[in-house]
Amino acid sequence: ANPGWPIEAGPLRVRAGVVTLRPVQRRDGRDWSALRLGERDHLEPWEPTVDGQWRDNNTARAWPPIHSQLRRYARAGASLPAAIEVDGRFCGQLTVGGIVRGALHSGWIGYWVGRPFGGGGVATAALALGLDHALGPGALHRIDATVRPENTASRVVLERCGFREEGLLQRYLHVDGAWRDHLLVARTRDEHGRGAAAALVASGFARRV
Ligand code: ACO
Repeated sequence: ANPGWPIEAGPLRVRAGVVTLRPVQRRDGRDWSALRLGERDHLEPWEPTVDGQWRDNNTARAWPPIHSQLRRYARAGASLPAAIEVDGRFCGQLTVGGIVRGALHSGWIGYWVGRPFGGGGVATAALALGLDHALGPGALHRIDATVRPENTASRVVLERCGFREEGLLQRYLHVDGAWRDHLLVARTRDEHGRGAAAALVASGFARRV
């Protein structure tokens, strides 16, 4: 069993439109590929290194095996892999991964949003929904995230969702050709109060639909 799977969260309205989370689907391949093929310079500075070429790794044909692996991890209880939609259109991904139960009850969270949908609060809304889901229906105690210090936009998103900085992980992850330092940020259920989405609504950043 995987508490919180399948993931369904939202809707939450922000400047860009109405944001929801739903499980990744095999039929997302075309939209996923169309977005990612044009976004190498937007995504590659921040994503973990994988074998192969960007244009081969992001064709529509590359998606089914990625999708199958994501669903396998979800069935095994190790992840909650979501598509982010704005106004019903696929615009990115949010994944809670590395889920361990027992005395940890923790996981990490990561996300990307395609450039055509960026700058309107989509990532902030998606992260708030994903975090609330992981600490709520997902029954996890702690969610952490790692972000390159240079990734200003993502740091803004994490801070708006209440993530606390815990330290600098040196040469932590291979990204964009080298082992890169990452900030470790986290949030635990005891400090989560009424949740991140409620806080965004209270501050006027988001509205319930
Ligand atoms: N300096 C200061 N603020 C900035 C900068 C900058 N250089 N760039 C963006 N911002 C602000 C934006 O103005 C916005 O704030 P605002 O609402 O006050 O205008 C905020 O940062 C971004 O918030 P959103 O609009 O919610 O974010 P968006 O939907 O644009 O997505 C994201 C941000 C996810 C970082 C997207 O650009 C992306 O996918 N980038 C590439 C992949 C990536 O970096 N993923 C995150 C990796 S780290 C992790 O997963 C934990």
